[in-house]
Amino acid sequence: MSYQNLFSPITMRGVTFPNRIHRTSMVSGLTTEDGMVTDELIKRYIREAKGGVGGIVVEAAVIISSKSPYNLRISSDEYVPGLTKLVAAMREANKEVKIGVQIMQHLKLAKSGWRQKVEDFKTEELPKIVEDHVAAAKRAMAAGFDFIEIHMAHAYVLSSFLSLCNTRTDGYGGNSLNNRMKLPIEVYQAVRKTVGENFPLGVRINGEDFCIPGSTLAQSTRIAKKFAELGADYISVSAGSRFEDAVTPAEGNPPDPMSGYSGHRMSPMYWWPDGTHVFLAEGIKKAVNEAGYKTPVIVAGKIRDPKHAEEILAEGKADIIGLCRALLCDPDWPIKAKEGRDKEIVKCAACNWCLEADSRYEQVKCVRYPDGFTSAPEPFLPKMAKPGAIKQEQE
Ligand SMILES: Cc1cc2nc3c(=O)[nH]c(=O)nc-3n(C[C@H](O)[C@H](O)[C@H](O)COP(=O)(O)O)c2cc1C
Repeated sequence: MSYQNLFSPITMRGVTFPNRIHRTSMVSGLTTEDGMVTDELIKRYIREAKGGVGGIVVEAAVIISSKSPYNLRISSDEYVPGLTKLVAAMREANKEVKIGVQIMQHLKLAKSGWRQKVEDFKTEELPKIVEDHVAAAKRAMAAGFDFIEIHMAHAYVLSSFLSLCNTRTDGYGGNSLNNRMKLPIEVYQAVRKTVGENFPLGVRINGEDFCIPGSTLAQSTRIAKKFAELGADYISVSAGSRFEDAVTPAEGNPPDPMSGYSGHRMSPMYWWPDGTHVFLAEGIKKAVNEAGYKTPVIVAGKIRDPKHAEEILAEGKADIIGLCRALLCDPDWPIKAKEGRDKEIVKCAACNWCLEADSRYEQVKCVRYPDGFTSAPEPFLPKMAKPGAIKQEQE
């Protein structure tokens, strides 16, 4: 086998992931408007599970009842049967893949351009944020997920508490990182208490916010060390997607955290080099390891080639490779890599056609699929793919 690091298993609290390829969370727009699981959504995840990936984080599931159209929800018990069906279908498709869900509280948006900020929460409202994460974690366990990821990255509630942009003055924000970490730590500890010591619980953080008042590696390394100390089972490193430098929305449209420079950093486009965020994962892994923790660090951000993924692991820059758009484009990337069929991988063009659909609350598909497909065809080979929206220099 060519990629020994990539295809070595990793175990967290007794749960073994068969390889180091981890599908990071990706909103699909395939739920009902109310956030219920649909057959189309199940089909998408079955297709991804079959491709040989080691772990899949099912897309961000909203934990509160506030509206957010076509986002998966885990905000009440009525969502559990659909989620249970989804997990069972994925497990049936691939008995080895480990299936997690990302639990997330978003900040509210209005078409008037108004957006909720962390400064808007009253101190007495904060325990409810903790309770909602706990309730969501209970539902995730009831649905049969193998692990849970707490979303502390990008534009949402917990990342906005962690961020240097947080100007709260009540002991949960401001210049003190300890204060800014307080609520995310309370959430982590309450969820850990709920899931117990035998259940993997990871966190996703921003390695850097990429906006002027935002956090950098100087803060994210300290945040990662703290969660390693608290026993988080992995630190997934993402970046950007902050509202602070988003462009002013057109009238009648909500603000879009993907529209500014920070937004563009989350899913690096074709003009960024492959492995755009490896330096962030590397910095965080070094800090975590030097502090005496072995907590696995997940890197993501325009990793498209198995050889490159193997090099990142072999050079000790990360422990697990996160792939999002690469697997939307070609879910068989892992199997093809394992079998030495790299040339048969249909490569993500990093054009962000998928992400633009997400911003419009539409179904997220890949530009390279044949017309009318909501998941990759089976088999899917380069000769069947539509040309990418942008021709990559290196292709
Ligand atoms: C359409 C789309 C939806 C995404 N949804 C989420 C999400 O729900 N939660 C999350 O943490 N990241 C989300 N991401 C970010 C990805 O997980 C990933 O970190 C990013 O795209 C970089 O990895 P890639 O280059 O392999 O795509 C999303 C990305 C895209 C393109």
